[in-house]
Amino acid sequence: MKGIILAGGSGTRLYPITEGISKQLMPIYDKPMIFYPLSTLMMAGIQDILIITTPQDQEGFVRLLGDGSKFGVNFSYVVQPSPDGLAQAFLLGEDFIGQEPCAMVLGDNLYFGNDFDNYLLAAKENALQEYAVNFGYAVKDPERFGIMELDRNQNIISVEEKPKHPKSKYAITGLYFYPDDVVTKAKLVKPSQRGELEITTLNDLYLQEGRLKAQILGDGFTWFDTGTPDSQLEAANMIKTIQSNKGIVICAPEIIGYQNGWLSKNELLERGELLRKNDYGKCLIKMANE
Ligand code: TTP
Repeated sequence: MKGIILAGGSGTRLYPITEGISKQLMPIYDKPMIFYPLSTLMMAGIQDILIITTPQDQEGFVRLLGDGSKFGVNFSYVVQPSPDGLAQAFLLGEDFIGQEPCAMVLGDNLYFGNDFDNYLLAAKENALQEYAVNFGYAVKDPERFGIMELDRNQNIISVEEKPKHPKSKYAITGLYFYPDDVVTKAKLVKPSQRGELEITTLNDLYLQEGRLKAQILGDGFTWFDTGTPDSQLEAANMIKTIQSNKGIVICAPEIIGYQNGWLSKNELLERGELLRKNDYGKCLIKMANE
């Protein structure tokens, strides 16, 4: 299974900061924002990952992430010439995806909570069985999001992009699993009124064939779209609290790579030594020595 991190966009909600730097390279507490969605894909056991960026920011991502060997994964890079919509990722990623199922996570989405690895495994299994999966999360302002309407058994009945009168409170969050025909389906998506290739249109194509499933992230789960100053601050505070309370580092790709057997003990130790002046590095060293 392949994975995509969509890390382009314009970041206008973070102006003036994002006039000079890509949103997904900004920190959320002690690590770059993109480490969080990267951790999500790695937790799903995905090792081949395509990073889609704006043309002007690609260099910064390559400098930060390299070929992926420091995390035990393989990165490929593609630029999106202009922010023409989320579904365009599957057109830009056509050669990378080939005939495989593919997950996509947005570069500013942060997931943390119990049972996440089980949710991810279930979604992967569904994608292998030719179903697409959307992750739903109850929000207080559903008109700002793509929304899924559910029946009593949590089957999706409809999907709608930023509806004026939302039919449910469940936002479709920025993590999607698709079966091996996703590129063919993405080619059928026509630009919306706002001129974008909408992911909601792609999801609707699967829904029309009875092939779209919902995975609801419960109340104990945390999901952030870290695209505004307030959500960045809230997310950073949450990460700091969890890490300080438990004396651990969460969403560190090195640790997940090690746990997945993609990085050796020595490689983890070497990486820890490089970062040893802070708690992040110290945690890698501790982990390698346990
Ligand atoms: P958004 O947060 O919806 O858009 P944005 O990043 O351009 O920010 P703003 O609304 O502040 O102007 O995008 C969600 C994620 O998807 C984000 O990580 C950027 C990415 N994205 C792309 O890479 N390409 C696109 O064409 C779009 C629309 C978004």
